[in-house]
Amino acid sequence: MKITKAVFPVAGMGTRFLPATKASPKEMLSLVDKPLIQYVVEEAVDAGIEQIIFVTGRSKNSIEDHFDRSVELELLLERKGDTKKLDLIRHISEMCEFSYVRQKEPKGLGHAILKAKNLVGDQPFAVLLGDDIIHTEKDPAIGQLIRVHEQTNSPVIAVERVPENEVSAYGVIDPESAEGRLNKIKGMVEKPPLDKAPSNLAIIGRYILSPEIFDFIESTAPDAQGEVQLTTALNDFLQHGPIYGYEFEGTRYDAGDKLGFLKATVEYALRSDKLGDRFRSYLSSLET
Ligand code: G1P
Repeated sequence: MKITKAVFPVAGMGTRFLPATKASPKEMLSLVDKPLIQYVVEEAVDAGIEQIIFVTGRSKNSIEDHFDRSVELELLLERKGDTKKLDLIRHISEMCEFSYVRQKEPKGLGHAILKAKNLVGDQPFAVLLGDDIIHTEKDPAIGQLIRVHEQTNSPVIAVERVPENEVSAYGVIDPESAEGRLNKIKGMVEKPPLDKAPSNLAIIGRYILSPEIFDFIESTAPDAQGEVQLTTALNDFLQHGPIYGYEFEGTRYDAGDKLGFLKATVEYALRSDKLGDRFRSYLSSLET
């Protein structure tokens, strides 16, 4: 079945990025000249997604505004005859269909995804987390996962090898067997201490899930912090059918972290058509 819907959980508080995220959403932090979340929306749209379901929360209204029409701004640009900027901002609200559902309390990623159950319906769907920005030349990361799903007809999770001292910041998979980039998963654990980590293959924020996952989330008990973890529900799902981990091609930035965000800013600025050359000479001028 074709994947046309994607769930974007965006209700998180962004505590890693305080004070910048005290009153504005972390998803709206600007990477060069676009909010982070727009990069992830564009990745989904490039991969053929037609409907995006944002699972949102308090103080996240600017995300809705960003993907809506901006009539006053459009009128102003029209009057000025600035068709370039007009196209640029119109395109944002026309990229695909946007829906919104609220997660009233921060009760974890599994709980957030469950909020989208009615809007997703009975079909496989994508999940994209806005903290993970993935740069690829042509082939969007979520599109790579969609292709694996077409071959396997099973849920697929993006994974990446991370240094040992970082495994405890991620969900970690226990691979049963591997064929190239494709790993068949036999178990997974959320944020394990290093000595309990089954591998160094970390779960990155891109998933293709089947609608049965909602039943598994519903029967997942909250953890000690009161959060319903998607990783736990996926681990239980393994009793029902296979799940694959795919080592995607691309460069991933943890943009929810201050250093990761700075790395992304520098590298996206260097890649920019408009700014790259000038920014490169500016950086070299700092070295001398
Ligand atoms: C979530 C998931 C975790 C995954 C990570 C990827 O954690 O629970 O399994 O490795 O996203 O970004 P979070 O970073 O939201 O705490």
